[in-house]
Amino acid sequence: MTWTLVPAAGSGRRFGGEVPKQYLRAAGKPLIEHALEALLSHPGVDGAVVALAEGDARWPGWTSLHGKPVITCSGGGERADSVLAALLALPAGTTDNELLLVHDAARPNLHATDIAALIAAANGCADGAILAAPVRDTLKRAGAGNPDGNPCIAATESRDGLWRALTPQAFRRDLLRRALERARADGLVATDEAMAVERLGRHPALVEGREDNLKVTTPADLALAEFLLARHA
Ligand code: CTP
Ligand code: MG
Repeated sequence: MTWTLVPAAGSGRRFGGEVPKQYLRAAGKPLIEHALEALLSHPGVDGAVVALAEGDARWPGWTSLHGKPVITCSGGGERADSVLAALLALPAGTTDNELLLVHDAARPNLHATDIAALIAAANGCADGAILAAPVRDTLKRAGAGNPDGNPCIAATESRDGLWRALTPQAFRRDLLRRALERARADGLVATDEAMAVERLGRHPALVEGREDNLKVTTPADLALAEFLLARHA
């Protein structure tokens, strides 16, 4: 059995507006529906736990999709709290060895080939695996500001060996639980699951995924998601 945990309890502060971004529509469906459809239509995924904000009135109330169970729970103050809450809401009988795929609700353009590659890599690596993409841009370190208020370039940084972390990220339940509980106890806000797992001295695998598996953070991202999703709607 492989379950997916979908944190969807954020408020989309950087996006702005009234509606949390996971409920914004692109190509006719809310982003969260695209994300859940991609995950649950995959034969390797058996069910989903979705972490929702307290009092979320927009959740459509799905209890199953593609014939697979969808469970909800209350999320927490940080993304990692929502992921841990989802892990703890897995059905009784879930084993320590179960592979879990954590995927952002606001990441709608996930393809089956990436899910398959991630599951295959995670099955071969006890420390888990994440989808990621090599950094393509030239990286500048900002220094002091000029009189216009724009920062000046202090240095050009090497992008050699740098990757952007995407989701899904896949770990055995026991490892993910220990990692998230330790990070919380240490007061560390992990911005992805791998970061919490790395702090235990583990080295999850980087699986090169599609660069168009974008997370919607700003309105410009939503326009791009609309373009990408409309092509295979
Ligand atoms: N998330 C969550 N619980 C939180 C914060 C975030 O479940 N306390 C979820 C979001 O709903 C989103 C995913 O984690 O699906 C990725 O987080 P992010 O892109 O940062 O979303 P938001 O936190 O909503 O956006 P912002 O940081 O701009 O407020
Ligand atoms: Mg956030």
